[in-house]
Amino acid sequence: MPEIIVTDRAGTVHNLKAAPGQTLMEAIRDNGIYDIKALCGGSCSCATCHVYVDSAAPLAPMSDDENDLLDGTDHRQANSRLSCQIKLDGLGSDLRAVIAPED
Ligand code: FES
Repeated sequence: MPEIIVTDRAGTVHNLKAAPGQTLMEAIRDNGIYDIKALCGGSCSCATCHVYVDSAAPLAPMSDDENDLLDGTDHRQANSRLSCQIKLDGLGSDLRAVIAPED
């Protein structure tokens, strides 16, 4: 089972447990990390679930909507993603992410 490792804004590293069908945002929230607000509940319309993902992580490409939302953030980097758009089922290898600063 691949590991899901998330660093919060305080620099604490968490090894997350995820239920089948969860997104990364849901797993972050359900593991008691409250740095992300996820105001839209995962419908790709708020960008408050912004993370930086290890560039080696094998993820599905981002949608135009996700790309547009990330363009509106102050802290976008080349490895920015919205954690609500990252499905954890079928991860072929470990996933490492860092929660982005709040806008
Ligand atoms: S939770 Fe709103 S875009 Fe991810």
